[in-house]
Amino acid sequence: MKSIHAIVAIDENGAIGRQGDLLCHLSADMRHFKEVTMGHSIIMGRKTFESFPRRPLPGRQNVVITRNIGWQYPGVTVVHSLDEAIEAADTDVAFVIGGAQVYEQALPRVDVLHLTRIHARWASADVFFPHIDMSEWQEVSREHHVSDHRNAYEFDIITLKRR
Ligand SMILES: NC(=O)c1ccc[n+]([C@@H]2O[C@H](COP(=O)([O-])OP(=O)(O)OC[C@H]3O[C@@H](n4cnc5c(N)ncnc54)[C@H](OP(=O)(O)O)[C@@H]3O)[C@@H](O)[C@H]2O)c1
Repeated sequence: MKSIHAIVAIDENGAIGRQGDLLCHLSADMRHFKEVTMGHSIIMGRKTFESFPRRPLPGRQNVVITRNIGWQYPGVTVVHSLDEAIEAADTDVAFVIGGAQVYEQALPRVDVLHLTRIHARWASADVFFPHIDMSEWQEVSREHHVSDHRNAYEFDIITLKRR
């Protein structure tokens, strides 16, 4: 049985992006994302995939969901639904890595949520994570990160497991 994890960075308003990009680039959070997802299948929407400056992300099976049956990209597993994405993922743990449309569909099926809570707010944000009902989740770890010259904002890396 495949385990489904999701990984996301959220601001204090539940926002995850603006104008097709991330809200900010936190070096320590990028490192965390790489460590956690490396070697696993990563499932994403076509828009998130196209937002990466370097793609596909190396060392991971990149599974991209699109409704466009003609869409292809070298080194990418292309699928046309979330079910197909989970089926196509070839590792025991598959990571849903966004964006908003894909998180919305996947959250009910997620077993573990790797949540980076950024202690800031972006008024210009235009995409949001779905509501997290904390009665459904148990916090199993939390790591606080202070801001510094490579991380402009304070943030917490939180692991939640479905109860
Ligand atoms: N903070 C974070 O951790 C984080 C993580 C990831 C992304 N983001 C941000 O989120 C934003 C992108 O999110 P988004 O919601 O706009 O786009 P998205 O979820 O990345 O991609 C949406 C696209 O995925 C395809 N898709 C979605 N559901 C589908 C389904 N059921 N069947 C077939 N295809 C489906 C469609 O592609 P086609 O149009 O090709 O049909 C759709 O347009 C960006 O700003 C990005 O930076 C933030």
